[in-house]
Amino acid sequence: MTKIQKREHLKALVAYYGADILSSADYYQSDKYIQHGDTSTLEHMISAACLCLQISRKLRLKSDEMSLVRGALLHDFFLYDWHTPKSTRPPHHATYHASYALKNAADHYAINPTEAEIIQKHMFPVNITPPKHRETYILTIADKLCSFKESVSKPFYYDIVQELKHDK
Ligand SMILES: [Fe+2]
Ligand SMILES: [Fe+2]
Repeated sequence: MTKIQKREHLKALVAYYGADILSSADYYQSDKYIQHGDTSTLEHMISAACLCLQISRKLRLKSDEMSLVRGALLHDFFLYDWHTPKSTRPPHHATYHASYALKNAADHYAINPTEAEIIQKHMFPVNITPPKHRETYILTIADKLCSFKESVSKPFYYDIVQELKHDK
């Protein structure tokens, strides 16, 4: 496969696994909120989903790819701007936003137990209960790499992220 074919394949897989999420207007509420740098929360989640899939495939981790992508696509679906003053948003963002994201995800989409754990425990080890699923560990690593990259530059897979946004 050429580099372009690999890129198109990655994009197609994320689009396929997350079709119902990416085609839902509700999901795009997350594009209103900045996550890191100039990157919206929506862009951060799509970027993390791409990176999770790449990590899993490169390292041959035999993950449940569909749950991995879907959990990553929803892991920060908390739907508020965490940069605003504390009086205007839910408190204790670092420790509680995963729970808000899980509630919103379950309210809007059909998510399975693996996807629920990926969302609920993605802040490990900040939230100290260790995950059970390898998919959650993959996201905990991808999320931290994405957060660092977005704080200094554009998100990983910037072009794929933009195309998936516009293909909705
Ligand atoms: Fe998060
Ligand atoms: Fe995140």
